[in-house]
Amino acid sequence: DSDLIQKADERYRETLPNLPKGKGWMTQHLVQYQGFWVNPDAALKNLMWIQDHFKPRPTDIFLASFPKSGTTWLKALIFAIVNRTRYGFADHPLLTTGPHDCFPFLYAHLYEKDRSRFDLDGFPSPRLLSSHIPYASLPNSMTDNQSYRFIYICRDPKDVLVSTWLFMNKLRPKELAPLSLEEAFELFCQGISPYGPFWDHVLGYWRASLETPEKILFLKYEELKKEPFVIVKSLGEFLGYPFSLEEESKGVVEEIVKLCSFENLSNLEVNRTSVQKFSKGATVDNRHFFREGKVGDWRNYLTAEMVERLDEITYHNLLASGLLF
Ligand code: A3P
Repeated sequence: DSDLIQKADERYRETLPNLPKGKGWMTQHLVQYQGFWVNPDAALKNLMWIQDHFKPRPTDIFLASFPKSGTTWLKALIFAIVNRTRYGFADHPLLTTGPHDCFPFLYAHLYEKDRSRFDLDGFPSPRLLSSHIPYASLPNSMTDNQSYRFIYICRDPKDVLVSTWLFMNKLRPKELAPLSLEEAFELFCQGISPYGPFWDHVLGYWRASLETPEKILFLKYEELKKEPFVIVKSLGEFLGYPFSLEEESKGVVEEIVKLCSFENLSNLEVNRTSVQKFSKGATVDNRHFFREGKVGDWRNYLTAEMVERLDEITYHNLLASGLLF
């Protein structure tokens, strides 16, 4: 395994100096790799490792998202749906373990000292794995497999922008001046944000979901907020864990929605006080993953001109695709 990590590191070292640079949100710079902007350290290394060495299993369940679109929420929901016969709601793992530990990122094991904690090969099936990798950059082994399942969650870019800006400024090292909203807005519009351009990211998964709807379920944060019961049921169906009539009449769907609600998760001790370790040096307080959890909080931050410009970019980029926000 360490040989493989070293190999990915070599490709990384050869590639990095040739990539275009842009201003970073959490780090000083982002670099553009295969059309998308990523953090030049961990994110790019991880991405290359996955492209070169990750071995999917036919039963894997992948959660894909643009950052700040509802990843944490979906992790909790999918974990609760798939494992609902294993755990009771009174002593459920999600009550004491953060969603990102229950449902790790694909590369979570790479920098873990205690490898056994995130030993991907040792994970029981179905493995629940997440990533922000754009669809076009996924290795063929992940997209060609006939049985793979992807859930993609997207969100109104105005809320994504605000959520990203506030989140990244919390994580931005003190040596770097905070990013102003005006600057963040400009960068976001130009596509220069982690895993941006936003619109290309969303369209990659949207088109793939139209081509292979049985493999990729495309969800919207706003719809999940509006009709959580309907969507949790369709998630169960899609993932091959349909809810029986008996489960429905016993209120299992409601229990899952309640367990994973913003109100419930954000008030748990584990999500208020513990820290999430993503890669070497990159630790994030769990509480940063729970801010407002609302639709339309952009109204409290963006000016009318910003809204008009961002909506216009979204309209133009998505017009031909049939995807609307
Ligand atoms: P806000 O910053 O708008 O509040 P991600 O998980 O992809 O990083 O996205 C984080 C966003 O999802 C944050 O949005 C966060 O508050 C919101 N969120 C986290 N858990 C949620 C939940 N259980 N229900 C609804 N929204 C949630």
